[in-house]
Amino acid sequence: MSGPYLIAPSILSADFTRLGEQIAEAEAAGADWIHVDVIDGHFAPNLTMGPFIVAACRRATTLPLDVHLMVESPERLLEAFAEAGATHLTVHVETCPHLYRTLQTIRQLGCKAGVTLNPGTPVSLLEPVLPLADLALVMSVNPGFSGQQFIPDVLPKVTALRQMFDRVNPKAIVEIDGGINTETLPGALEAGAQAFVVASAVFNYPQGIAAGIRALRAAMPG
Ligand code: DX5
Ligand code: ZN
Repeated sequence: MSGPYLIAPSILSADFTRLGEQIAEAEAAGADWIHVDVIDGHFAPNLTMGPFIVAACRRATTLPLDVHLMVESPERLLEAFAEAGATHLTVHVETCPHLYRTLQTIRQLGCKAGVTLNPGTPVSLLEPVLPLADLALVMSVNPGFSGQQFIPDVLPKVTALRQMFDRVNPKAIVEIDGGINTETLPGALEAGAQAFVVASAVFNYPQGIAAGIRALRAAMPG
């Protein structure tokens, strides 16, 4: 599968005193999804947001809400995030001993099922569940904070996942998250990514959110 390409601004770098306005600005500028980084301070450093913030995003936009769960035992929280309005729920393979069941549960809750892996985790761990996944997210930084440097060593995993999906589940999307900007996006796209999570290069873009999204779009072919 190739294109169309999706931009998913991550509100981890948004100004939370103006969250609704900032999401509206991203939507007006052509954002495809809004990415919500949920971090519990145990699985990954940083302590961020819960279902209450997802519900606030749901009131601010009609765009899909792409919720990335960097938490231990994410199965405890799936229902609350689904009720809050999540569209996609993405869990880390490192946190899910019963990954197949967890993805089944996400779908039963009416959400798209996503699975993700840290930079040091091999794609082979995802292979058995790919028929059940709507999305595979490749982390291109160590999870925790926005503004980190892109890790190019993960690009072969993007290509491998795209090829694996093409065999068993061609409609599924490969997404990449961490250090994406106008410099790093083309290589990730070339490797096979279709959805791009971007926090700092959108919300901290010097000329503003809309200009940041336009610059990313301009870095894509076609
Ligand atoms: C990292 C999060 C990312 C992060 C991306 O733990 O999963 O979504 O916010 O931030 P940037 O785009 O600034 O690298
Ligand atoms: Zn994320």
